Amino acid sequence: MTTNEQPPMMPLRVTRNDKIADGIHLLEFRDTSGKPLPEFSAGAHIAIRVPNGLLRKYSLCNDPVERDRYQIAVKREAQGRGGSCNLIDNVKAGDELMVAAPVNDFKLPPRAQDFLFIAGGIGITPIMAMIRQVQAEGKRFRLFYCTRSPETTAFVDELSAPELAGKVTIHHDQGDPSCSLDLKPILAERRNREHLYCCGPRPLMEAVRAMADHWSSTAVHFEAFSEAETHKPGDQPFRVRLARSGKVVEVPVTKTILEVLRDNGLEVPSSCETGTCGTCRTKMLAGEADHRDLVLAEHERSDHIMICVSRARSDEITIDR
Ligand code: FES
Repeated sequence: MTTNEQPPMMPLRVTRNDKIADGIHLLEFRDTSGKPLPEFSAGAHIAIRVPNGLLRKYSLCNDPVERDRYQIAVKREAQGRGGSCNLIDNVKAGDELMVAAPVNDFKLPPRAQDFLFIAGGIGITPIMAMIRQVQAEGKRFRLFYCTRSPETTAFVDELSAPELAGKVTIHHDQGDPSCSLDLKPILAERRNREHLYCCGPRPLMEAVRAMADHWSSTAVHFEAFSEAETHKPGDQPFRVRLARSGKVVEVPVTKTILEVLRDNGLEVPSSCETGTCGTCRTKMLAGEADHRDLVLAEHERSDHIMICVSRARSDEITIDR
């Protein structure tokens, strides 16, 4: 789907808003008349209209077999645009909020049997739903969960359950990058054709992307919970030549290639628009890209570009559109 096609919204009742770790709350939503909710699979997110009017997306963390509730974990982002603080501070059990049906850009391949999960901080939320699903299906996984401290770690009790013994490693770095978990040995070898799923802060995901460059790119999956760096200080406008029509379009500093192509009437598939899902992968025939995605492996970067986030280093690039 494209993100222009927002699923319809429905009123849901908030049934919980509880602190589960320092700065993290668990919120639960149910149908106002007790009807089953639209189903979801592990990795899905919902969009919520928060009381201050913002539309924010949150990954579902409960078991996908549950049809009576959606659960999300929200981290208070004091420096954010106010969505998380508004939800945590101003929403209480009994309130009604408009919520869109779940969308999944971070699906587990049904036939895969082995998974490597890497979560940083609140990036644990989609991974929790995955662990519940994978465990119920009798598949194998290992989880490496990196947080600042025990106090800021959500879902500790569930992840410490005896049935998960030997599968879960929780690492605290006390906010000191020199104490980060060494992921190199973990990613050195792809065991049993496992699929890697990573969600967390952008620097963690970029490090994992680089360290997993020798993995098949179809086995490496990321989910971003923050905006991609589509626009940075110092960005310059550039031209994109469309090889099939010969048309040349200008990409200003305020727009992405994807937005400019759509402005010009082209139908371009997209989904996440954060450079993580792979939907907008486009062949690049000439020029040099400024890659800002987490999808392309190093050897793909000379002739492919993710047009939802990446820009150009050269004055012009030519793409196969
Ligand atoms: S739309 Fe997901 S990577 Fe571009």
